[in-house]
Amino acid sequence: MMKYFDKNYLANLDHLYRINMVNSSSGFKSANLIATKSKDGISNVAVFSSVIHLGSNPPLLGFVTRPTTVPRNTYKNIKETGFYTINHVHEDIIEDAHHCSAKYDESISEFSMTNLEEAYDHASLAPFVKGAPVQMHMQFKEEHHFKINGTIMIIGEIIGLYIKEDLLKEDGFIDLAQGKVSAINGLDGYTIPKLKTRLPYQRPKRTRLTKEKFDRINT
Ligand SMILES: Cc1cc2nc3c(=O)[nH]c(=O)nc-3n(C[C@H](O)[C@H](O)[C@H](O)COP(=O)(O)O)c2cc1C
Repeated sequence: MMKYFDKNYLANLDHLYRINMVNSSSGFKSANLIATKSKDGISNVAVFSSVIHLGSNPPLLGFVTRPTTVPRNTYKNIKETGFYTINHVHEDIIEDAHHCSAKYDESISEFSMTNLEEAYDHASLAPFVKGAPVQMHMQFKEEHHFKINGTIMIIGEIIGLYIKEDLLKEDGFIDLAQGKVSAINGLDGYTIPKLKTRLPYQRPKRTRLTKEKFDRINT
């Protein structure tokens, strides 16, 4: 039995019910901690489920931030410094990662309010999340403001990344399931996926039409 809900029904739902339902509707999402540092040197880390792949060459990732009608520390720090890190949420840090969604004042670092630890390398101004199985150093490239609801997409280039060695396979595939990396269902559901299969590169199946075309070209 399937239940149908129309646009009016969605518009009249209780706020929490609606955000749970609509946030679950897009499918499983990635679980990432985006870490930044303000120009005054205060670290910030927040959980985001909207990181997407925009292209591999150059290697670009985007994420969506809510409207800046209230202070958004991640957004502000990225605009101030031009750099940030994206770190994958491992099963052991799910609770601390989730807590980073709490609205702390910009003078308070979420690193000091959780067991998450910041780490730096020779090149990064923004902190990495220590122990995350994938840690990416990002340089801000573009922002796009969406007229429809005031959200902003931040686009950044991966300028360096750390990958837990045993997760990186011969062909470049990062086995996130082996790394026990979390995915997000809705706003507060965390799950550790299992890899079911990997499939080879697909080519169109030969239909009668494509076969005739192929024969014509090749005679
Ligand atoms: C599971 C989960 C996913 C979230 N994903 C996003 C997101 O993609 N974009 C966003 O703007 N906020 C998202 N949030 C809310 C932020 O984590 C929250 O607003 C946080 O306080 C932002 O911190 P900041 O002000 O330090 O940037 C998410 C929260 C949770 C719990």
